[in-house]
Amino acid sequence: MAHAGKPAEASWTGRYPDLGTGLVSYEDSISPEFYELEREAIFKRAWLNVGRVEQLPRKGSFFTKNLDVAKTAVIIARDLDGRVRAFHNVCRHRGNKLVWENTPKHETSGVCRQFMCRYHGWRYGLDGQLKFVLQEEEFFDFDKADFPLVSVHCEVWEGFIFINLADEPSQTLPEFLGPMVRGLEGYPFHLVTERYAYKADLLSNWKIYLDAFQEYYHASVLHSQQQVPSLRSFESGFKAPYYQTDGPHRLVSTGGWKGVPRHLLPRDQMYPIEPNIEAGLMGPWQRPDIPELDPANLPAGLNPGGLDPWSISNFQIFPNFVILVYERGWYLTYQYWPTSHNTHSWEMSYYFPQSRNASERIRHELTAVISKEAGLQDAGTLDGTQMGLESRVIDRYPLSDQEITVRHLHKVAENWVQSYLRDEKAVRA
Ligand code: FES
Ligand SMILES: [Fe+2]
Repeated sequence: MAHAGKPAEASWTGRYPDLGTGLVSYEDSISPEFYELEREAIFKRAWLNVGRVEQLPRKGSFFTKNLDVAKTAVIIARDLDGRVRAFHNVCRHRGNKLVWENTPKHETSGVCRQFMCRYHGWRYGLDGQLKFVLQEEEFFDFDKADFPLVSVHCEVWEGFIFINLADEPSQTLPEFLGPMVRGLEGYPFHLVTERYAYKADLLSNWKIYLDAFQEYYHASVLHSQQQVPSLRSFESGFKAPYYQTDGPHRLVSTGGWKGVPRHLLPRDQMYPIEPNIEAGLMGPWQRPDIPELDPANLPAGLNPGGLDPWSISNFQIFPNFVILVYERGWYLTYQYWPTSHNTHSWEMSYYFPQSRNASERIRHELTAVISKEAGLQDAGTLDGTQMGLESRVIDRYPLSDQEITVRHLHKVAENWVQSYLRDEKAVRA
């Protein structure tokens, strides 16, 4: 019988011999035991993006973040020296969750000088120091200096706030990000700050959604209503023309328009509102006239494959963070926060330059809504995938060359878990 398919040596996957080309198991996405290991091995060891500096505009600005996957919650705050800090959101007195709104389950944000516990009124400064204890003289051999909030490692990179829950992270944030992700350095994130944010609770393992957003093999089928010219056969067929991996991270870049401006596409390949507003899935049709966002001035690392024309780079930053930069002068981020072995919470944010008039604002909103629609089309398949996998009718699945990113993620997750188990064993020995 004849075999179809490309030889490994002529493929993207073949450039990474460690990945192999064999069938892949998704047991890592349906096993409660594997999830318990991931909590320790991945989410308590990797640097995790929890937001951006624009969420902390002033001294005293703060926001909270629930991290079910690590069984904790954190407070991120800008202290009186302007430094961004992170603390476990736990009162030193009797363990009450310190900062919350409405119910302890809800996240909150605001501006304050001190955090006050709702239980017995202990107060902490923005630097985490315990400042006030009600009836302090009633305590025994007590020194407030011994009871600061428990701090969490926190670093800022290009305006993105990362935390690391390890006692001592094994890598600094720049080491962890590595050269490929750091190729984004110099992108004018500080000029692209008009944010539209959404959140959804989804019925799949977190990695199943990463997979659905890191390959474009599905695009022509699942997003048939939103044919994306950069993914179509105008010059490249239905493929993303560039793939790269670096450490635990992945990158996919797609080509752009070659003499086929978006507005010349057949109208049945866009929503009726798109030609009226002049914006769509790929962003506003007009790139903003901001010199820093001109493709000629963008950092070379944004398009390391040197695609010309280029339209999108999708940086998949391990474990659960995505930065997708569009040639049209905007970007989006996704975060996938596990809540159990088969559920997660999906956060999406769309960032544009600040609107200067109503037309720009409407183009941004339309782009965000259409992009969210595409994201929901991806999200709509996930519980079906989870159900199919959980049936365990099949235990090994094939992956095409375009799905190298899927192959890589599951390999990396396995590697991190194995390395954690080795370290644990060494500690016990
Ligand atoms: S638990 Fe916070 S003051 Fe008592
Ligand atoms: Fe998709």
